[in-house]
Amino acid sequence: MEHIKQYIEENKDRFLAELMDMLRIPSVSADSKYKEDVQRNAEFVKNSLIAAGADKVEVCPTPGHPIVYGEKMIDPVLPTVVVYGHYDVQPADPLELWDSPPFEPVIKDGLIVARGSCDDKGQMFMHVKAFELMMKTNSLPCNVKFMIEGEEEVGSSNLGTWIRDNKDRLKGDIILISDTSIIANDIPSIDVGLRGLSYVEVEVTGPNRDLHSGVYGGAVANPITILCEMIAKMKDENNHITIPGFYDDVIALTDAEREDLNRAPFSLDNYKKDLNVEDVHGEKGYTTLERTGIRPTFELNGIWGGYIGEGAKTVLPSKAYAKISMRLVPNQTTDKITEIFTKHFESIAPKSVKVKVTPHHGGEPVVTPTDSIAFKAASMAMETTFGKKPIPTRGGGSIPIVALFEKELGLKSVLMGFGLDSDLIHSPNEHYGIFNFLKGIETIPLFYKNFTEMSK
Ligand code: BES
Ligand code: MN
Ligand code: MN
Repeated sequence: MEHIKQYIEENKDRFLAELMDMLRIPSVSADSKYKEDVQRNAEFVKNSLIAAGADKVEVCPTPGHPIVYGEKMIDPVLPTVVVYGHYDVQPADPLELWDSPPFEPVIKDGLIVARGSCDDKGQMFMHVKAFELMMKTNSLPCNVKFMIEGEEEVGSSNLGTWIRDNKDRLKGDIILISDTSIIANDIPSIDVGLRGLSYVEVEVTGPNRDLHSGVYGGAVANPITILCEMIAKMKDENNHITIPGFYDDVIALTDAEREDLNRAPFSLDNYKKDLNVEDVHGEKGYTTLERTGIRPTFELNGIWGGYIGEGAKTVLPSKAYAKISMRLVPNQTTDKITEIFTKHFESIAPKSVKVKVTPHHGGEPVVTPTDSIAFKAASMAMETTFGKKPIPTRGGGSIPIVALFEKELGLKSVLMGFGLDSDLIHSPNEHYGIFNFLKGIETIPLFYKNFTEMSK
């Protein structure tokens, strides 16, 4: 215990400086313009793993962005913790809404401000530094393997194949991930579920070309109007999704489970104040925690068409588009939801337009056990460092690869995240608390210790 605190105290400025160096690399996986930067970030992770004392460190190429692998095997009879994280980040735009440039990290009021500071470079780097700490203080109690990818933010499409091809190398006992949030800095929590995702893009085509809205308007279908009408039909007056069969596979929680979930500290007033909204909006009959944790959703992520430049242009556009994400809960599956959405969307389209649905990435929902050694090891570790037992919570976001770890490797995950929902991940001014960064580095070695001891 003391050696942990002491090592952190002596090295924290360097830890932060190194993290800031990594945050200067614009590793945006979605934009091919940054391909070399993503590669450079993979090399950075590789070098930091080597410096920390890992063996067999390798930047593994994929048809997309590389995966960084590294390990420290101290004894095959001891348990093996497989750490997963991602070094890629979301695009930084809209740039004008950042108070400081997204890839020029600054520390302000105890927060590290930069794209990726929380999601997930800051959280992933805690694991590298915690590993370094255990190596340098001779306290690594078990084996460890690192698998740090560069395509999480674009759906991890190559990681699935890579884990299938590397099953032997990835043999282990538990996957440990820090890529989620706690309730507050004085209210630790551990996510025990993540939602799945179906992401689709739709295209509605009216006339074969853009038309004069005076000459043709009123007589020909306007694809923007039709798209809006079709989308409006996707939910009823209770904000219940109307796609036939959408809820068929949803496992309803018992009343007791729902009560449990709603016992987590949550202030609707603060939530509304923080977002500057008069009221929340969602499916009737469910609380905000339930709406974001255990219920599936249908959300528009973008909609466009027609003229959006300066001034006015009287045009009846040929096409309109939307990007739609549906968050899924156990036992829904991404393929089925995408399929029934597509059928439904096509079936409600009037004859005056043609529609096309293009599926993007998806991922299956997961729930992780709370009665496992690994969960208890994480819970006890956080209880030690926060002074409070963490509350099990359901995360609304998705980490699509977690379901595949279980399916392909037979490994469960522990989602021991240290971010806050207010860290503005994916948004301008993303930040990560220095408190959270250091708390993570302090807690992780205790997980290893507890997990190893409890595995005996
Ligand atoms: N780290 C997030 C997921 C997350 C954040 C889970 C907060 C729980 C709490 C992850 O990097 C992410 O953003 N995932 C994407 C999915 C991906 C396929 C683009 C998401 O949830 O939108
Ligand atoms: Mn993430
Ligand atoms: Mn993310």
